[in-house]
Amino acid sequence: MIVIMKLLVLGGTWFVGRVVAEQAVARGWDVTIFNRGRSGHAPTGAAEIHGDRENVVDLKRLAASGPWDAVVDVPGSVPTVVRDSVRALQPVVERYVFVSTVSAYRAWPHEPVSEESMLHPGDPDWDPGFRHWDAVAYGPLKAGCEAAIRRDLPEEQSLILRPGVVLGPYEYVGRMRWWLGRVRQGGGVLAPGDPGRTIQPVDVRDVGRFLLDMTESRQSGVYNVAPPAGGATFADLLHHCIVATRADAEIVWVDEDWLIEHGVRQWTEMPLWRKGAGTWAMDTRRARAAGLRCRQLRDTVADTWSWLSQGGEPVAHERDAEHGITVHKERELLAGAVRDGAIVARTCP
Ligand SMILES: NC(=O)c1ccc[n+]([C@@H]2O[C@H](COP(=O)([O-])OP(=O)(O)OC[C@H]3O[C@@H](n4cnc5c(N)ncnc54)[C@H](OP(=O)(O)O)[C@@H]3O)[C@@H](O)[C@H]2O)c1
Repeated sequence: MIVIMKLLVLGGTWFVGRVVAEQAVARGWDVTIFNRGRSGHAPTGAAEIHGDRENVVDLKRLAASGPWDAVVDVPGSVPTVVRDSVRALQPVVERYVFVSTVSAYRAWPHEPVSEESMLHPGDPDWDPGFRHWDAVAYGPLKAGCEAAIRRDLPEEQSLILRPGVVLGPYEYVGRMRWWLGRVRQGGGVLAPGDPGRTIQPVDVRDVGRFLLDMTESRQSGVYNVAPPAGGATFADLLHHCIVATRADAEIVWVDEDWLIEHGVRQWTEMPLWRKGAGTWAMDTRRARAAGLRCRQLRDTVADTWSWLSQGGEPVAHERDAEHGITVHKERELLAGAVRDGAIVARTCP
C-alpha cells in the first residue's frame, strides 16, 4: 500500500535535513521545508516556506499552513528554540520527530552507551545566548532540546533519534572530505594509532530511510542510530579512500599516545580519531530490531567521493575549518615518529 504522508521539515537544505526531505519527496510524500532561505539547497519537489524559527510571528504563520502528519526537526540545537517550535506546531502536527545525537549522553565518548544511559542534565528552558558551534555545550544543549520535547508532548507523539557520527554526500562538517582529500594527494599519510580500531559512522541516507520508515509507521520512543559496533575499522575507512580516489598512498599508523604527546588534537586534526573507549561503542540493537539497515562503509566513501568529484559542494560551515592537519605538521610528525620508533604499522592496498 502506498502511504502519502504530509511532512514538515524544519531546515532541510544542508545535510541530514536535506536528505530526509529529498527521500520523502522520492517516496511521493507531500513535503514542506521551513527555513530562512539563506543557505543550502532546497530539494526539488518540496514546497518551501521561509521564516525564522526563532521569530514567534513566523512560527505562527508556519502553523497556519498546516496540518501535517509529522514535523521533522533535524537542526534544533537550542532548548528554548525547540520548545517554542514544539508549542507552536503541536496543534497542527500529529508527531514531532527530533534528530538528537550520541553527544547527548553524559558518558560519551568515555564509555559505551545504550538508550538507557544517562543524558547530560538538559534544561528545556536554556538559551545559551549564542548560536555558534560549541563542542562543549553541544551535548548538553541537545539533551535540553530532548527535555523540552518530553516535557510538552506525550511520549507517543514524539520520536527521538540519536545518531552517532553521520557521513555521506552533502556532509559539511568536513571529516570524510578531509580524509578523501588527504589520501588523494598520495605519499605517506599519517594515521592515528591502531589500524584495527573499529568505527561506527552511519550513512546519512540510512538515517533518512530509518527516520522516514519510523515516521510512516507512527513509531515513537528513542533510538540510537548507527551500524553495529565492532564492524568496519579505521584501516577499512582509509583503504576505501585509497580505492575511491585511486591514490598512490601509503598509510603510516603512528602510536596514538605519541600523537597526543606531540599535540595532535583528537577528533578534529585527525578527524574521526578519538581515544575514548566509548567513542564507537553505541548499542544500536533497538534500532536494528525496529528495521534500521546500514550500508557498507565502502559505499559511503565511494558515493561521497563521487559526489565531490562531480562538483558537489557542501554548505560553508564554521566546523569545516577545524578539521585536518597541515601538510607541514604532518611531515614533521612523520619524521619524528620514524626517529622515535612510534610507527605502529604501514598499510597500502
Ligand atoms: N553531522 C553529524 O555527524 C551528526 C551526528 C549526530 C547528529 N547530528 C545532528 O544532525 C543535525 C544536522 O542537521 P543539518 O544541519 O544537516 O540540518 P538541515 O536541516 O539539512 O540544515 C540546517 C537548516 O536549518 C536552517 N536554519 C538555521 N537556522 C534557522 C532558523 N533560525 N530558522 C529557520 N531555519 C533555520 C538552515 O537554513 P537557513 O540558513 O536558510 O535558515 C538549514 O536549512 C544537527 O542538529 C546535529 O545535532 C549530526
